[in-house]
Amino acid sequence: MGLKLTDEEKEMLEGKHGKATQKAIEIITTLGEIYGAGRLIPVTSVQIAGVSYHNLGEAGLEYLSEMAVDGRARVLTTLNPAGMDMLEWKKHGISEDFAENQQRVVDAFEKMGVVTTCTCTPYLIGNLPHYGEHIAWAESSAVCFSNSVIGARTNREGGPSALASSLTGRTAEYGFHLEKNRQAQVGYEIRAKLQNTDDFGLLGKAIGDRTSKQIPYITGVAHATTDQLRSFCASIATYGGVALFHMEGITPNRTAVPDITESVTDDDLDKARSELDDEAAEIDFISVGCPHASIGDVARIAEMLDGKQVSEGKTVWITTAKPTKDVAIKMGYYDKIEKAGAYLVSDACCAVAPLEGRFKGLMTDSAKACFYARGKNKFDIKIRTVEECIKEALS
Ligand code: F3S
Repeated sequence: MGLKLTDEEKEMLEGKHGKATQKAIEIITTLGEIYGAGRLIPVTSVQIAGVSYHNLGEAGLEYLSEMAVDGRARVLTTLNPAGMDMLEWKKHGISEDFAENQQRVVDAFEKMGVVTTCTCTPYLIGNLPHYGEHIAWAESSAVCFSNSVIGARTNREGGPSALASSLTGRTAEYGFHLEKNRQAQVGYEIRAKLQNTDDFGLLGKAIGDRTSKQIPYITGVAHATTDQLRSFCASIATYGGVALFHMEGITPNRTAVPDITESVTDDDLDKARSELDDEAAEIDFISVGCPHASIGDVARIAEMLDGKQVSEGKTVWITTAKPTKDVAIKMGYYDKIEKAGAYLVSDACCAVAPLEGRFKGLMTDSAKACFYARGKNKFDIKIRTVEECIKEALS
């Protein structure tokens, strides 16, 4: 059948819209050919990952600078977390060298017209697609959230393919853009008590460990807040590569219901917790806000820290998006958090910041943060509720 292109897309391929657009459409059409797409489709929103200089390095920065010569974003495009808070990096112990390079990365995106707010929860700060909308997002937790909780449609893009979608306003029509590929494949009944964000992270791990890239249909979850679903999405994407799930009574997509052959019990959650916990972890780093905290989270944490003091030898990061931090400043939450000796860090997170070797043990409510803290930064870890994390910070 082959890939059919519109006249405008053909012009892009011929270089009539500039070099960067040409390179970008080549990436999109190559993906389309590999995955057997019949056409390209417009996207309305893009989210780009691979923003931290720590992950990108000089080669990645060079590629971006090249694209920035004449590449311009055609649709709303935001960025995943960078390796540092773009304004307050110094007090978080980031080196001048790193800061300079990180700034060059963000400048290159800015030149392309990308909105340089760096967050893995773009849907909380205005990059919010609606049900059925075709988008091109890269951050795995946000991909899972947008496909499942919002009902938008995206494949799990890489950094370069997401940028290519931004510069062309297109993606190839394959994978999760097609209804036939969005049907549930394996059924799970949840018979476990779910109370806090850490429980939802453990649930994501318990299912993810058993569900390699399949689409789960989940029953038995009576209620879940947006914050709990954020945690679940991050975890199931990390441990199972899951980009779409259905949760009965909670998520909006239509699907045929598969036989419920699997169950998750309290014992399974306990097992997930014990696999994550390092018994002897010496906690000197507490990080909450993976995925990036909502303003509700920040308000709650500010109350917990109000008038208290983080104990000596402990570092506390509450990570969030810059617009959320701005609201927190306006509402006085920032002052309460920082006066207590904790940091409200925007644009960055504990997984993509250059933190290796800086701490011994991390306590967090996020199963995804545990994965990266152990695997990448070589920290010992403990997963607890947000309340327990803050208690640990103060003890
Ligand atoms: Fe976001 Fe960083 Fe967690 S990108 S999902 S806060 S590991």
